[in-house]
Amino acid sequence: MSNRVYSQEELQSVLASFGITDPTDISRYGSGHINDTFKVETKAGVRYILQRVTDAFDKDVLKSNILRVTEHLKSKGVKTLEVVGYENPWRVYKFLEGYTSVDVITDASQAELAASAFAAFQNALADLPAPQLLPVIPKFHDTVDRIRLLDEAAAKDVKGRKASVAKELAFVDARREESATIVKMMESGEIPVRTTHNDTKINNVMLASDGTNVVIDLDTTMPGSALYDFGDMVRTSSAAAAEDEKDLSKVYSKKEYFEALVKGYLANAKFLTENEKKLLAFSGRLITLTIGIRFLTDYLNGDTYFHTAYPEHNLDRCHTQFKMVESMEAQAAEYEEIVKKYS
Ligand SMILES: Nc1ncnc2c1ncn2[C@@H]1O[C@H](COP(=O)(O)OP(=O)(O)O)[C@@H](O)[C@H]1O
Ligand SMILES: [Mg+2]
Repeated sequence: MSNRVYSQEELQSVLASFGITDPTDISRYGSGHINDTFKVETKAGVRYILQRVTDAFDKDVLKSNILRVTEHLKSKGVKTLEVVGYENPWRVYKFLEGYTSVDVITDASQAELAASAFAAFQNALADLPAPQLLPVIPKFHDTVDRIRLLDEAAAKDVKGRKASVAKELAFVDARREESATIVKMMESGEIPVRTTHNDTKINNVMLASDGTNVVIDLDTTMPGSALYDFGDMVRTSSAAAAEDEKDLSKVYSKKEYFEALVKGYLANAKFLTENEKKLLAFSGRLITLTIGIRFLTDYLNGDTYFHTAYPEHNLDRCHTQFKMVESMEAQAAEYEEIVKKYS
């Protein structure tokens, strides 16, 4: 969310432009980081989500992608966000009633539900009519390019921080070669480009007790690899601690949650090829390494991309990601067995 201040009058006139003339309450909502989100209550009792879309992306690309994705999902009978109106930079969705959204997983069943929802989402988008969606953020999960940007940041060393992160840079160096695996296989066609979500955090699935879960936050839906979506679920949903936990003894990947993710994902991801299945366990390590690299890069660049609350914040985040990588490496054989069990 941005620091922008909105007057009630402004919000009311935006709503009126979408034909909503009876709001009784408009207030900030949710814990999303990207958009400015409001919950709207009306006299008629219908509730809405009003969002001002982030300035970080091309808004026309976003709009076109989201309208195509929601229409396609609807046509396939997959429950999705209902767009009431979309005029950049604003959009209104029907409020998803009866669902809960959690920020942190407290039970393995939530991991299973979320993973099955993301798989169903990818499955339904497998036959999205051409052309492909437009790339909202080019090279988003391209580890090779992310390492190139890290090398650049280290060479420039604008804040004189390079010497203090020699260990972290060595950590990346030791994994440089394997980190190109998915990029190379996508280039050669051994791994297919699919329509993927690209932000598969638990709070981007609305959970329902009857199992009809809805994938939301469609802003980064674009061409990518199914492995990146699964890997980012492992990174975010199997983590035993927060992304910036300072006590690294608390940071590890929970096998129980990993298993729940695999179980839920493979129940619906019927489209996966053998090459993709073989790399599922690896994808968690790879995405986690990639995000760690992005935090390290931002630290070297002087914290210009991620919002930081204190000077070493990006470095602490890098440390949790690298600790997660080590934890997944230590459990690699067990994780491979789990994937085989549900394949
Ligand atoms: N249609 C909806 N119905 C109910 N809650 C929603 C809806 N859309 C979004 N939310 C809530 O608002 C939060 C932020 O919205 P999201 O689209 O994920 O924005 P961000 O990109 O900022 O994360 C979500 O995590 C969810 O709790
Ligand atoms: Mg979100």
